[in-house]
Amino acid sequence: MNNTILNLPNTDSKRKLTEKLIQTAREIKMLPDIALKAIEIADNPNASTQEFANIIAQDPRLTRDILSLSNSPLFPRAPGVKPISCLKMAINRLGSRQTKQMILVSCYSSMLNQMDMDEVQVREVLGRHSFLTGVISTKLNKLFKLGIQGEEFTAGLLHDVGRILLATAAPDEFKALDAMDFSERHDVIQAEIDHIGTSHAEIGEWFLLRNHLPEELVSVARHHHNPAECGKFKRFVALVSVADDLANYYQRKELETEYDCSDLASLKLLETLGVEDPVAILTEAWPDILSDSVDSSLQLSRLS
Ligand SMILES: [Fe+2]
Ligand SMILES: [Fe+2]
Repeated sequence: MNNTILNLPNTDSKRKLTEKLIQTAREIKMLPDIALKAIEIADNPNASTQEFANIIAQDPRLTRDILSLSNSPLFPRAPGVKPISCLKMAINRLGSRQTKQMILVSCYSSMLNQMDMDEVQVREVLGRHSFLTGVISTKLNKLFKLGIQGEEFTAGLLHDVGRILLATAAPDEFKALDAMDFSERHDVIQAEIDHIGTSHAEIGEWFLLRNHLPEELVSVARHHHNPAECGKFKRFVALVSVADDLANYYQRKELETEYDCSDLASLKLLETLGVEDPVAILTEAWPDILSDSVDSSLQLSRLS
């Protein structure tokens, strides 16, 4: 198994942390075999909808989640359009690309529910942050007209998977490092490296690679605190990074103060990548984005 990516200095406490992370990652399989097979079929342009549906149908939970998600606020229906009632209809309406994303969402929710975190509150707060960042990512994708096709929700959902793994594997280290106060404009990554020799970004990258997740999702986990340093997928990572910042603002519960994004590095990066005046656009749009996203993300987090 590839554990060199954690790259921890060779001290006793750090070696113990690596062992705990590896043990936890062994116990948690993010993608069950059926989900892996279904994703392979989704990526195969020659596969039929029926083949895709047949594989997914072997997993009742996956089937139920895909139906629920297809009828969720993620896919608003035009007036008069009936709710989706069967798997084949869901795949036809969403397309294989979106259905693949929904498989990842279902697997992530299931993984989150199975993780044995010391405190229920940690799971709830981090789960809430995942869904909120996912929904905000979809709104920002539209706002900035980036044209990403559904992957942004999954990326927002998974961006802090390293925090979740750390909270499960090493609750004491997690508590010492992460106050869950969502004040992240300082260098969180450096603070983590100074304390434990690695960061939630590196842990997330390692975990998603180990679970064969697509490389753009791995990049988001690795670079959402420093999108400028990401080679490929810069716009994609910068988008999730902005969504993360807005979700943090909401979860800091500082809504009585205005959200200020004028110095946000990921927005400036989006500007250099061709988005016109993103600071002005977001400064105007953030209250609506947040109020739409908060309710939708709550509904979504209760689906699975
Ligand atoms: Fe993070
Ligand atoms: Fe985050």
